[in-house]
Amino acid sequence: MFTMAAAADAAPKTMRAVQYDKYGGGAEGLKHVEVPIPAPKEGELLIKMEAASINPIDWKIQKGMLRLFLPKKFPFVPVGDLSGEVVELGGGVSGFKPGDKVVSMSFPNCGGLAEYAVAPASLTVARPPEVTPDGAALRSPSGRRYDAVAHCAPPAPWPVFRDALADAGGVVVDLTPGVAATVRSFLHRVTFSKKRLVPLILMPKKEEMEWLVDMAKQGKLKTTIDSQYPLSRAQEAWAKSMEGHATGKIVVEMGGTE
Ligand SMILES: NC(=O)c1ccc[n+]([C@@H]2O[C@H](COP(=O)([O-])OP(=O)(O)OC[C@H]3O[C@@H](n4cnc5c(N)ncnc54)[C@H](OP(=O)(O)O)[C@@H]3O)[C@@H](O)[C@H]2O)c1
Repeated sequence: MFTMAAAADAAPKTMRAVQYDKYGGGAEGLKHVEVPIPAPKEGELLIKMEAASINPIDWKIQKGMLRLFLPKKFPFVPVGDLSGEVVELGGGVSGFKPGDKVVSMSFPNCGGLAEYAVAPASLTVARPPEVTPDGAALRSPSGRRYDAVAHCAPPAPWPVFRDALADAGGVVVDLTPGVAATVRSFLHRVTFSKKRLVPLILMPKKEEMEWLVDMAKQGKLKTTIDSQYPLSRAQEAWAKSMEGHATGKIVVEMGGTE
């Protein structure tokens, strides 16, 4: 006879995961391990992972760029962009049920390079069936000037941006701000400069994630996939991100073919 207790006993207790246990080491620092499936705490969901997407911030954390804050402890299962199915709710979570397909930004706890991950319900949104887990150069030869530029490549000197902005003024939104850019931005503000550099640090919000998912559902936002890897080849995906020449998302699929 098959009982609920038997079903609970049959549920897996451990999972495959990829983790690192110290700063540095690049792709070779990632180790394949079998570890207990994490339990969702208050305000968290347990997600059976379908795919995770590696971002540059993931290997920058491994390099120790945020070592004052992250990771909170080793070993650390990296990657915060998650997609999968809800299997369990932590205390105080409403609006989700087991079986719901979701996307989540589990930052800073991450945990995405694994078969299961816990994620904050506050940064998890429903994923409609239309949204699947797979989902000019500044020195323009035309001499065209821009009102706004989003900078998301390795740092470039300010004159490159300044000369690309319209004479009447314009804004460069810098996604890779370092100390120099932060100082520059401060000077622009206090001098009321017409051409301005504005550092941007992503602070994810649930409403904005829902808006993005809805844009994808409507087909107004398309995801470009650079490459897809099974979890067993997570090191290759990590190395690809570290090369800095991906065109689109680097996706690790938990059920991906070897
Ligand atoms: N501030 C924030 O909150 C925030 C959020 C997300 C991302 N970021 C940062 O934004 C940056 C971009 O993120 P991403 O996910 O787009 O990274 P990515 O996928 O690694 O970006 C790769 C792209 O950068 C281009 N690229 C590399 N070197 C270049 C260079 N020297 N000059 C011009 N283009 C170059 C590549 O083009 P080629 O292949 O032609 O070289 C490729 O198209 C990263 O540094 C990331 O950490 C910041």
